Amino acid sequence: MSDRDDGAGEAWRKLAGAYERARAREDSLDRLVEWPAQRELLGDVTGRSVLDLGCGDGSKLASLVRDGAVNCVGVDISGKFAPDQPADLTLIQGDLSDPASIPEVAGRRFDRVLFLQSFGYARDPVATLRQARDLLTEDGFILLTRTQPIRYAIERTEQNGTRLGEEYFSGSPYTYRTGWNDQITLTKRTFTMSDLLNVIAAAGLWIETAVEPRLSEEAARRFPHKQAWMNTYLGIIMFRLRPVPGR
Ligand SMILES: C[S@@+](CC[C@H](N)C(=O)[O-])C[C@H]1O[C@@H](n2cnc3c(N)ncnc32)[C@H](O)[C@@H]1O
Repeated sequence: MSDRDDGAGEAWRKLAGAYERARAREDSLDRLVEWPAQRELLGDVTGRSVLDLGCGDGSKLASLVRDGAVNCVGVDISGKFAPDQPADLTLIQGDLSDPASIPEVAGRRFDRVLFLQSFGYARDPVATLRQARDLLTEDGFILLTRTQPIRYAIERTEQNGTRLGEEYFSGSPYTYRTGWNDQITLTKRTFTMSDLLNVIAAAGLWIETAVEPRLSEEAARRFPHKQAWMNTYLGIIMFRLRPVPGR
């Protein structure tokens, strides 16, 4: 699983503004489903240091700092960060694939390491996750959230007129126009759930909790088009990961 699209960095530099505008909409799934579920899995962050790999414009990390997190670092390839960040937050333009080589990260330990919808861009997923594990404090954990692999398989069945199993197991990369800016394509390596679980195991981590977040009943009533989308494409899956002792 080392077939990252090397155009992703360039694509994300162009996409960043449109992505953040879409995320800020009142009916965005990030706002309605993903961030609330991610925030709940993080729990109390008071006095905790957080490393956010693929942090976007840094606003989720800024919100954690406002909730009491300290000495936080965000890394994103786009380098398009929101202005007026709180103190105690360092944002760096860089590649999440090799976090231990980033000067502001090297030699440090963090209580929480986040990959929020960014892990798919790691060049070598096992190596990146191992590095993230080695950056944790003793009782630290990684929060890793990813698009459900079945979502991309369903989209490809719609494009190609194929069957779900054919696409889910196909293994070929998936290139698609993003919903945030239809001039820009992203290429994702496809993966199955067992691929992802095997990456986690190979990196010496165990799954403390897995969550597949859904719309609340109230949000589904207010935004039925989003419930319709979730009914077809499922959304994301989230893991709280801890080091297997001695590995
Ligand atoms: C779907 S967005 C998620 C952003 C943010 N974590 C969130 O939850 O809103 C993916 C992010 O990964 C970043 N990204 C893509 N490839 C990267 C890389 N190789 N290194 C660091 N960041 C990367 C993009 O610039 C983008 O901000």
